[in-house]
Amino acid sequence: MKLPHRDRIDLGPSPYDTFLEREAIPVVKGYFVEDLKDLEVKPWKRMGALGCYLNMGGQQETDAYVCEIPAGSQTLPQRHLYETLIYIVAGRGATTVWHDEKRKRTFEWGAGAIFAIPLNVSYQHFNVSNEPVKFLAGTNLPHLLNLFHNEDFIFRNPFEFSDRFDNDPDFFRKNERLTTRSWETNLVPDVNTFPLDEYPMKGKGVKIMRFGIAGTVYGCHIQEFPTGSRSLFHRHGPGAIVCVTQGTGYAMVWREEDKERTRFEIRPGSIYSPGDLMYHGHFNTGPTPMRHFAMRGRSPKYSQDRYRPTLHDMLPLDMEPPEVHKEYLAEIARNGIKEAVSIVQE
Ligand SMILES: [Fe+2]
Repeated sequence: MKLPHRDRIDLGPSPYDTFLEREAIPVVKGYFVEDLKDLEVKPWKRMGALGCYLNMGGQQETDAYVCEIPAGSQTLPQRHLYETLIYIVAGRGATTVWHDEKRKRTFEWGAGAIFAIPLNVSYQHFNVSNEPVKFLAGTNLPHLLNLFHNEDFIFRNPFEFSDRFDNDPDFFRKNERLTTRSWETNLVPDVNTFPLDEYPMKGKGVKIMRFGIAGTVYGCHIQEFPTGSRSLFHRHGPGAIVCVTQGTGYAMVWREEDKERTRFEIRPGSIYSPGDLMYHGHFNTGPTPMRHFAMRGRSPKYSQDRYRPTLHDMLPLDMEPPEVHKEYLAEIARNGIKEAVSIVQE
């Protein structure tokens, strides 16, 4: 059955579009960024640092931004009623969070760390190194702003979610398994060394860990494709931000009605965001495992996905255009790499 895809209907600027314009920093559109480290960042008044937004796939539920904090500098204090997931791309620093000015809590991080800002706390990031800090953040600001269309409610809301952050001194040390392939934590020290679980439904050899971080409903996961392996294709709604953290290869996307498939060369720092109902797959062609950090959907504890018996909209290998896998095998052969495990069913 052919499913129609849903492109956005233009009804004029949304509350999020209007907000974005007033933020007055560059906005990256489209589906692919070659390397987020090369994106132009400009002075960002609200944040007191440099930044650019990523409003990829033209979607209105989640977004992302890249923020750069110069050496020895810090952001202005922030507080807001939307969730923020953060991946530290470069540099070393610390973040202070608080409900009460007199009871602040600080934790440290370095390149590769992943954490979330507890909902509606005040917070400030500090660069404690001699190099610029660069981080990628994913938020559900568009959803919240379009829902309430009132910036005072979003940015100056006094409600304290003490259930999400209770000023516990061990808050950022919490780390426990929820189920297979899912963890509850408040800080992942290094995206590239965190142990992952097998995820054969996505392709032989593929590994994953899905996270709930600091009580967020906004979901994220780390996925790994060992040397000589690839994923199957699947598709879902828009809004995923997939950032490569290790390895090299390519990603491929297409919509059902497209004659051509689009291929993106990927390396650490590459970001892609498949559009609504775009099939997408990940192909490791390099000599090391390939990993990515993806922000998408809901966290395991609050996800409707846990009630699903199967992954949504996976494309079995025998329904995939046959040249896709041939192209992959030819490419790894050229690189002197053997297919790790044959994904063709015997
Ligand atoms: Fe996906």
